[in-house]
Amino acid sequence: AEKSNSARRRFLDEGDRIILRSFVGADAKGAYVSGAQLATELGVSRPAIWGRFKRLEGEGFAFEGVPNRGYRLVRWPRQLHTALLEEELRALGETQVHVFYLPEVDSTNSEAERQLTYGRCSPLAVFSSAQTAGRGRMGRSWASAADENVYLSFGLRPNLPSESLRGLTLWAGIFLARGLSPYVESKKIELKWPNDLRIDGKKFGGILTEAKSDTDGMRTLIIGLGLNVNGATENFPDEIRNKATTLGAHADRPLLINRIAARAAHCLHQAYQHTLAQPPEGKGGLASAWRAWDCLAGQSINIRRFDTQVRGVAVGVDDGGALLVDCGSDGIQAFQAGEVTTQGIT
Ligand code: BTN
Repeated sequence: AEKSNSARRRFLDEGDRIILRSFVGADAKGAYVSGAQLATELGVSRPAIWGRFKRLEGEGFAFEGVPNRGYRLVRWPRQLHTALLEEELRALGETQVHVFYLPEVDSTNSEAERQLTYGRCSPLAVFSSAQTAGRGRMGRSWASAADENVYLSFGLRPNLPSESLRGLTLWAGIFLARGLSPYVESKKIELKWPNDLRIDGKKFGGILTEAKSDTDGMRTLIIGLGLNVNGATENFPDEIRNKATTLGAHADRPLLINRIAARAAHCLHQAYQHTLAQPPEGKGGLASAWRAWDCLAGQSINIRRFDTQVRGVAVGVDDGGALLVDCGSDGIQAFQAGEVTTQGIT
């Protein structure tokens, strides 16, 4: 009785994940999964398994049963789904990340900050399908209507001097460009310094890194990512409709939002680990890694920071992540921050 009780508890707590694990990723047993086998493995009855399938069907999955073969997963949810995100992350080797999914939140960056302040374990990944107060760079807002897009914040408690994470946001862009490129094989992902993800000159993603420090170093670090995946561009606000796109609009096949979201979180984690592993003087090959995705190099640009505006030709970034601008007779200047505009690229 004790054994069956603990099996029941496990099934209640982790049933969705264990069922989904048998269909998704590294632990998947192949196309068909036997209901009888699942029942034996989980120590519950077949009707209990079947009941779980039904419940998952209410959440956007569909299973097809074939006599003598078992069940096949034939439809995935179009919205983010906690257990599926966890299993997709697990399939990428991310077993230590604590996943939180909220259908709606003010800002996932704010939520991650609250969670870390309450003492939640790090790393954590806060995902949401809609934000009521999504933030962008330079005090702008980030359009975050409820649609099939991803709002994600990866939260960490680095306990490190702030300098050790120089270049992090640029590395995040590079890892995302590398990790998402296989989903848009016929298109080239590009990065606009410091942190816009673009395709065909239009933005489909942006990164907002926020850190809290005290005199001893960094306390919390949050890498926020807004990623337009399958949302309808008609739903974007007027002022960005012509400048924004979605990953899905350029994909050769329908994108599974939970897979993309998990991949994106994995990329942010990789970028963090990669940046930490760099020597402090920043000689980590950032300049050359950036070159592969840089859409500004060779372009005439304007860069504005507070009240000053400088014109020149972008020539890449240095290993610390500063934008290098050839200002003619004034030589090559390095910008740590700023807002870049070009003709054609806004
Ligand atoms: C930018 O390009 O200006 C950066 C946009 C960053 C938006 C994301 S959406 C998830 C996270 N939560 C926020 O409030 N902002 C970031």
